[in-house]
Amino acid sequence: MDTCIFLLVLVLLPQLIMSNVPKVTSFRAVVELVSENSRIFSGEGLHLRCSIPDVHSNWSVEWFRGSERLPENGENFKLWNAHIKEGGKFSCQGARESVVGIIRTMQSLPVEIDVDGGWAILKAPSHQPLTGDTLKLSCRLRGTPPIHEAILYRDGIEVIRQTGQNLSFYLSNVTLEDAGMYSCRVSWDVRRRTYSVISVNTTVNILEVLTEPLMEIQADVKMFGKNRMKLICHVQYNARAPAPPGSRAVQLQGQGATVESGEVESTQQFLRNARITTMAQHPHPRHLLPPENPKLPPELLQSSS
Ligand SMILES: *[C@@H]1O[C@H](CO)[C@@H](O)[C@H](O)[C@H]1NC(C)=O
Ligand SMILES: *[C@@H]1O[C@H](CO)[C@@H](O)[C@H](O)[C@H]1NC(C)=O
Ligand SMILES: *[C@@H]1O[C@H](CO)[C@@H](O)[C@H](O)[C@H]1NC(C)=O
Ligand SMILES: *[C@@H]1O[C@H](CO)[C@@H](O)[C@H](O)[C@H]1NC(C)=O
Repeated sequence: MDTCIFLLVLVLLPQLIMSNVPKVTSFRAVVELVSENSRIFSGEGLHLRCSIPDVHSNWSVEWFRGSERLPENGENFKLWNAHIKEGGKFSCQGARESVVGIIRTMQSLPVEIDVDGGWAILKAPSHQPLTGDTLKLSCRLRGTPPIHEAILYRDGIEVIRQTGQNLSFYLSNVTLEDAGMYSCRVSWDVRRRTYSVISVNTTVNILEVLTEPLMEIQADVKMFGKNRMKLICHVQYNARAPAPPGSRAVQLQGQGATVESGEVESTQQFLRNARITTMAQHPHPRHLLPPENPKLPPELLQSSS
């Protein structure tokens, strides 16, 4: 492995010296929402933070809304007294000086911020709920009117109606059918007049803990020979950390033969039998999969030109 990296450096070295800026590293910046809500009322504030997964260098941070470069430079980005038009998809990127010019990290995945000019916002959990979870949806109001009724809608149809001051709705043991576009309506009386406000729709997706296994069969004679084929079982396991330990990843059952593998989420096995069914048991948690970005030293750069 060391030899391999060493050779790669040798091969890349002339290119590194010759090529022009800009350069992009294999690091990706990560933008995180520090304040509680990604949908805020106009006039409220917001805090985002950018982190760069490389502690060895001193990176400065560049901020973007969509493709527009913002004037802010620090690790922290704050919006005060937000205006509706200040919403958008925020991302960040690290940049630093080096002997070969300015080096940049990959731009972070964006965080979407909505600035709402209305009176009610329906807040969904920041993590995607799993089937069987209790889903909490809260209606947030501008100000504190003396409310007497709150209604939750899914796809425009009433789901829960509560009287009193309670603005939190609980849906227990959710299934895939509970996914949809949710909104809330709140009413109150002031001087014998009834006021009613409704939020915009918030999309709620529900994840299955264990997706139905999908079998992929590769039977390329040139690659595997006449008597062999490759079976790949695709199954996704979505339990939140700490995930229960999985003893076996996937079991492939064939005619008379059962092959088990405890290695990876997509198990690959070679079998002779043609008729195979799959049965997922305890798949491995996601963190055991290989990392998305190979760990290359920062000096192994890809020229983006
Ligand atoms: C890191 O960079 C910032 C701005 O680019 C500079 O103000 C600061 O002194 C640097 N810190 C170190 C330890 O080099
Ligand atoms: C939310 O979406 C549903 C279905 O698309 C629609 O019927 C409903 O009117 C929408 N509600 C709001 C407040 O936009
Ligand atoms: C609001 O109502 C739900 C039931 O719909 C209940 O579980 C919850 O405790 C109530 N919250 C408050 C603050 O009363
Ligand atoms: C949750 O829903 C599933 C499927 O509808 C049902 O089998 C299960 O008994 C429910 N669990 C609870 C605690 O209600």
